[in-house]
Amino acid sequence: MKKIAVFASGNGSNLQAIIDAVKQGKIKGAEVKVMVSDKKDAYALKRAQNNNIETKIFLPADFSSREDYDRAVVAYLRAMQIDLVVLAGFMRLLTPYFVAAFPNRIMNIHPSLLPAFPGAHGVADALAYGVKVTGCTVHFVDEGMDTGPIILQESLPVYNHDTEESLRQRIQKLEHRLYPHAIALWVQGKIKLEGRRCLIDDK
Ligand code: GRF
Repeated sequence: MKKIAVFASGNGSNLQAIIDAVKQGKIKGAEVKVMVSDKKDAYALKRAQNNNIETKIFLPADFSSREDYDRAVVAYLRAMQIDLVVLAGFMRLLTPYFVAAFPNRIMNIHPSLLPAFPGAHGVADALAYGVKVTGCTVHFVDEGMDTGPIILQESLPVYNHDTEESLRQRIQKLEHRLYPHAIALWVQGKIKLEGRRCLIDDK
């Protein structure tokens, strides 16, 4: 049984989608062992508690540097024997120390078709730019901001009447399907990395 740690700073709708997918047998051979947050009041914590998932809060203010913070997190993940780290709206950039501790074992989901519109405002930036197609991306995490190897992407059209909110809602619907799928592929050993390319064996 693979052990997953989900990291979230906010609402946690992706966390919920992953929990549901495990329950429904869409992610087989894995469990969400722990949910980690950097915010005391993240609604994601409630969702985890409602599902009897252990929660752990690491407050940035309790650490003197980003690396100290990440050292504590990594020590905790190792103690919990975590196999896969899943970032789901976790609003912190990981240090090289963290990334090196879990090589190709950290995933993130981003609300645009990377490499377009990385960063914290992917939906607003895509809308403002005027693209006609956007979407979401699941990728492995490297030391950059939303720059790691792409695992899965899915696209959707941008309509004339879209607002940031309407577009975000439609993108999130895609995310809730795509992220559990990417995790299931990883658990089944179906993602092969060749350079930057993730070759998916989805038979
Ligand atoms: C998602 O839209 C994801 O793309 C981005 O942060 C958002 C988190 O939403 N990385 P939620 O907390 O899972 O609802």
